[in-house]
Amino acid sequence: MFILFPFITRGIGPCIMEQNLIDAMEKRHSVRKYNSVPIPSDVVKTLREEIERCNVRGCLDMQLITDHPDAFDGIVSKVMKFSGVRNFIIVTGHEDEGLHRRAGYYGEKIVLLAQSLGLNTCWSIPSPNHKKGGYDLKAGYKTVCMIAIGYGIDQGVPHKSKPMHELCEVEEPMPEWFRKGMEAAMLAPTSMHRQKFKVILEDDGDVVVNPTGGRITRIDAGIVERHFELGAGKRLFHV
Ligand SMILES: Cc1cc2nc3c(=O)[nH]c(=O)nc-3n(C[C@H](O)[C@H](O)[C@H](O)COP(=O)(O)O)c2cc1C
Repeated sequence: MFILFPFITRGIGPCIMEQNLIDAMEKRHSVRKYNSVPIPSDVVKTLREEIERCNVRGCLDMQLITDHPDAFDGIVSKVMKFSGVRNFIIVTGHEDEGLHRRAGYYGEKIVLLAQSLGLNTCWSIPSPNHKKGGYDLKAGYKTVCMIAIGYGIDQGVPHKSKPMHELCEVEEPMPEWFRKGMEAAMLAPTSMHRQKFKVILEDDGDVVVNPTGGRITRIDAGIVERHFELGAGKRLFHV
C-alpha cells in the first residue's frame, strides 16, 4: 500500500491537471475590470514556478509583476476599458522568427493555469506605460505583449466563434480527436477576436496552425496550438 501510493498518485495527477486545464479553457473569457484583492502568495509562487519552466522551454523571459497599479493606466488602457489592473505578466523573449508563436503558446499555458487557480486574465498589446512596470528587459529580448491578471469584477462573457469549417482544412470524415482539438481552438483568445488562423491536418498526420494575418496573429497561432493540444489530448507541437 505504502509502496504503491506514489505510483498511483503520479498516474492520476496529470489526468486531473489536464481536466482542470480543459475546464479552465471553457471558463476563461477576457476580463478587463479587476478588484483590489491581492493574489495570495502561494498562488504567486505556483505561477512563478510554472513561468520559470515555460521560460526555459520557450526561450522566453515572462515575468509576473504584482501590486503595480500604474502599469495599465493611461489613455490606451482607458480606450480598451481596462480598470483596476494591479498585476500583469510581461511576455518578453529572444527576438527571432518563432518568438511570437512561443509567446502565445507559453503565455496561454500560464493564462489557463491562472484560470484554474481562480484568477482572471486578459491578453493585451504592450501599454505605452508598460516601461513603468518595473520589469527587466534582457539584452536582445523584445517585449511581445502583456497579460492583465487578478480577480475580476466579473467573469467576462463567452465569445462568438466563426464556424469550424472556416477555421480548418481536413479531409472528411474528420477524426474525433481533431474535432475535439478544433472545439478547443475555437475557445482560444485571439487579437481583436479576429480568429485569423487555419488549422490543417496534413497527409502525414501532422497538424499545422497557420496565422492568416499580420505578426500579431502569430501570437494567436501559438495560443491556438496550446488549446488544440489540450482538446485533442495529445502533444503535437514542438514550440
Ligand atoms: C495577442 C492578443 C492581444 C490582445 N490585445 C488586446 C488589447 O490590447 N486590448 C484588449 O482589450 N483586448 C485584447 N485582447 C483580447 C481579445 O480582444 C479577446 O481575447 C477576444 O476578444 C476574445 O475574447 P475572449 O478572450 O473573451 O475569448 C488580445 C488578445 C490577444 C490574443
